[in-house]
Amino acid sequence: MFPDQIILLCRPGFEKECAGEIMEHAALHQFPAYIQTSEQSAFVRLVGSSPEADEKLNTARLITDIDFQQLIFARQWFACSRDLIELPDSNRLPDILDAIENLNETFSEVELDYADTNEGKSLNKFCRQFKPHLVNALKKKQLLSAHARWRLHLFFTDSLHVYIGFAAIDNSSADAMGIIRLKMPGSAPSRSTLKMEEAIHWFLNREQQSTMITNGMTVVDLGAAPGGWTWQFVQRDCLVTAIDNGPMQPALMQTGMVEHLQTDAFTYTPKKKVDWLICDMAERPLHVSRLIARWFSEGHCSNAIFNLKLPMKKRLVAVQECLALIEEKLTAANIDHRIQAKQLYHDREEITVCITTTQN
Ligand SMILES: C[S@@+](CC[C@H](N)C(=O)[O-])C[C@H]1O[C@@H](n2cnc3c(N)ncnc32)[C@H](O)[C@@H]1O
Repeated sequence: MFPDQIILLCRPGFEKECAGEIMEHAALHQFPAYIQTSEQSAFVRLVGSSPEADEKLNTARLITDIDFQQLIFARQWFACSRDLIELPDSNRLPDILDAIENLNETFSEVELDYADTNEGKSLNKFCRQFKPHLVNALKKKQLLSAHARWRLHLFFTDSLHVYIGFAAIDNSSADAMGIIRLKMPGSAPSRSTLKMEEAIHWFLNREQQSTMITNGMTVVDLGAAPGGWTWQFVQRDCLVTAIDNGPMQPALMQTGMVEHLQTDAFTYTPKKKVDWLICDMAERPLHVSRLIARWFSEGHCSNAIFNLKLPMKKRLVAVQECLALIEEKLTAANIDHRIQAKQLYHDREEITVCITTTQN
């Protein structure tokens, strides 16, 4: 059970982008590899390109050396052997336990995965029922330890075939299959509120969430109507200027925390620097990137969260071009910054970007 491949889970339809991205990182780490995937499968396999169990091809190294936070299109990942394990029709546990023992590790968490496709989702019930039996068996074999650095992953391609591997707890998604389960808040104006909630959860750690988005902080929301993103900041006691020609939800306006300006988002500038710029407009990604970069270089905002809608083709190249443009402009303006980007679970044909700076 030599770990010579990495499995990456992604949104169905974005396998090419997920593959392109991990291949670039593998090349940077001088890891010879090729990709195995198929369209709409919602997962990608990066396979070390040597049939030998050569230590240089150990993907356990790669999943700790590459910063998972830098991957935009991967929701979750883990290292495993390229050998797909075939299971018997009944009593699958012994074969699975054998394979796990062969990994020679202990685990602090156990995750049962499947692809985010209709076929994959049909495994949900099976996985939920199987997991407690597996966990009990692992406890008996003393393969679970609260302090272990690894999470055990079982990725079922169907109920009779599984890849078994592991990911570093501190360099992978804490949410099962990289999917955060959020409840639509009853009073929020639109479903896209979930996108902003997920973005805050993904890009900011707990401490940052409570110190960087808090009482009395100021926000400009470009393309705000009907107010799902604004709502998230109002919930956190921030004052929001909402820019949109369209109407905002009346209940949100009645909080007294929102000023609505019916003007063009591309020409508006605030009188005073704001803590957050947020922007969710269905515009060309380069156009939005230039706007965001200008807000930073002209000193209008300290931090930003925004969406980049993806074009139909060459999506990875388009994303990289936008991020490079922003990086260049902020560096030229001498702004100490961090750019993070992710295709969140609630994103469709888009990614979300977060820029934080150390400036006030
Ligand atoms: C996807 S919606 C925003 C949804 C919002 N984030 C929410 O959570 O409810 C995009 C909004 O951008 C606005 N918009 C697009 N171009 C704009 C522009 N140039 N100036 C101001 N608003 C614009 C549209 O009117 C639309 O309401």
